[in-house]
Amino acid sequence: MQEKINEIYQNALNAISQANDLKALDEIRVAYLGKSGLVTGLLKGMRDLPQEERPKVGQMVNELREKITTVMSQKESELKSAEMNNALASERVDVTMPGKKDDLGSLHPINLVRNELIEAFAGMGFEIYEGPEIELDEYNFRLLNIPQDHPARDMQDTLYITENILLRTQTSSGQARVMQEKKPPLKILSPGKVYRADDDATHSPMFHQMEGLVVDKNITLCDLKGTLEAFLKKMFKDDLKTRLRPSYFPFTEPSVEVDVTCFECKGKGCHLCKGTGWIEVLGAGIVNRRVLENCNINPDEYQGFAFGIGLERIAMLKYGIPDIRLFFENDVRFLKQFK
Ligand code: DAH
Repeated sequence: MQEKINEIYQNALNAISQANDLKALDEIRVAYLGKSGLVTGLLKGMRDLPQEERPKVGQMVNELREKITTVMSQKESELKSAEMNNALASERVDVTMPGKKDDLGSLHPINLVRNELIEAFAGMGFEIYEGPEIELDEYNFRLLNIPQDHPARDMQDTLYITENILLRTQTSSGQARVMQEKKPPLKILSPGKVYRADDDATHSPMFHQMEGLVVDKNITLCDLKGTLEAFLKKMFKDDLKTRLRPSYFPFTEPSVEVDVTCFECKGKGCHLCKGTGWIEVLGAGIVNRRVLENCNINPDEYQGFAFGIGLERIAMLKYGIPDIRLFFENDVRFLKQFK
């Protein structure tokens, strides 16, 4: 019996020393100590021994089980620490390797211009008002002195949803809303998207405008000129000159077009200004008294000036962009240039 036990012990030691991972070690555990393992088999075989030998043999088998268990747990901790070392070595992070750079996004040029405009006007005390893009005919046209059959409706290729509901063609619609909602004095800046059925290199069916409205006592064309000049100098160059040219908008009287000296030739005349030395940048005027009346403001007590700026136009001028469609094609190569 002793011999047999020694043999099993030797075999177990050999097997354990050769096991090179935890799985192999577990298989050895099952083969020796499991339910139908060799050591367990010895205990079962005791039934066939004479009564007086059983305690001795039982003790020997138990010792064998303990010895094998001890050797196994030593081996187990060896294997575990080897595995851990392997994992540490193979999963080591080399902190000196160059990192993967995330591509940083940038603001869209229209947003850049929008922010710059807001900043310039916020410094002069203007407040932001955002009106709806789906608008009533009343605010987009009628209250602004453009009745149903007014020929000025032809200036704007309107996208109608129903007879009375449309996609706003101009942020001027916000003027009427503000004047109805709030009491003067007012100093409002209203940026947003506008829509017209128009599509070529300088017109897009969706584009952005920024509306300005000031209503107070004793407002004159000089206030308009001074305000816009301060803004344009901040936006473009300090040394630019501005001029007001007579124009027509139904909601202003008088109405003007504001020109600035050409950025490229400084007024001498070039391809950009088509030889005139001047570039048109926005429309403006003194709020028509009929618009004030329509919005329940007494025109004998209050006057106002208003202006409308096309953001794409400003961005095209500022960055020298030749085609409005570039803004909306989402070509990253184009957009990246405005960081
Ligand atoms: N709404 C005009 C347009 O879309 C721009 C404009 C001109 C707005 C004169 C104004 C203004 O407030 O006074 O063409």
